[in-house]
Amino acid sequence: MPTVLITGASRGLGREFVRQYEGAGWRVIATCRDPAGTDLTCECHALDVSDPVSVDAVGSALSGEAIDVLINNAGIYGPRDYGPDSVPYDEWESVLRTNLLAPMRVAAALMGSVARSDRKLMVFLSSIMGSIGGGGGGGQYIYRSSKAALNAAVSALAKDIRQKDVGCLLLHPGWVQTDMGGSSAAIDAVTSVTGMRQVIEDWSIDETGMFRDYAGEPIPW
Ligand SMILES: NC(=O)c1ccc[n+]([C@@H]2O[C@H](COP(=O)([O-])OP(=O)(O)OC[C@H]3O[C@@H](n4cnc5c(N)ncnc54)[C@H](OP(=O)(O)O)[C@@H]3O)[C@@H](O)[C@H]2O)c1
Repeated sequence: MPTVLITGASRGLGREFVRQYEGAGWRVIATCRDPAGTDLTCECHALDVSDPVSVDAVGSALSGEAIDVLINNAGIYGPRDYGPDSVPYDEWESVLRTNLLAPMRVAAALMGSVARSDRKLMVFLSSIMGSIGGGGGGGQYIYRSSKAALNAAVSALAKDIRQKDVGCLLLHPGWVQTDMGGSSAAIDAVTSVTGMRQVIEDWSIDETGMFRDYAGEPIPW
């Protein structure tokens, strides 16, 4: 039975990943900031991904485990209403800590557990909004730059750990009806996670470092 670990499992896409992988018979290790405040019934660890102490604690607790697929899902959008003259810089730093530094730190803390597994895959939830070549519009510098930087970091990480046979996959989940995506988003979480699980299932180490959407289509950097 393969094992998956999911960050940010309390709601949205993370919660749906838990539901679907449980349904598929995987061992699911959920992590979230406040396990007691969720309806999760699987193994669940308290993890605030933006807190290095919290990340180290989970890394130590799971150091003897084999994690086939690590899903770095936790993320925030940050402020939406600002322009070139009104950028909230403090909040920009906070978004970078959660969307860029945190998944890289989680990946490092759990690298040994992933390397010990059969599938050896680290997934990172990115966004097409981080695609510079994808033809996106202006604005939203904070969220866009956090995901563009994540793409750059993971692309480099993939090259560094290729020799260990540990792979990386950057995924855009689509525009999804969650708290972040809003109720008028294009697709529901079931459709998005069903698609991403298929992309994960089809993935092989030859594709390490690629950036794809939930239907498996490559996205320009
Ligand atoms: N929805 C979309 O349309 C869309 C599109 C592109 C990319 N994405 C990406 O997909 C991922 C999931 O998005 P979503 O739509 O499911 O968002 P969401 O509904 O807002 O849920 C975000 C999840 O991340 C968790 N989280 C935030 N900060 C955290 C922290 N410091 N430590 C641990 N957990 C933290 C939240 O936990 P709490 O309950 O504790 O707040 C929550 O479980 C994100 O990385 C997002 O950027 C989403």
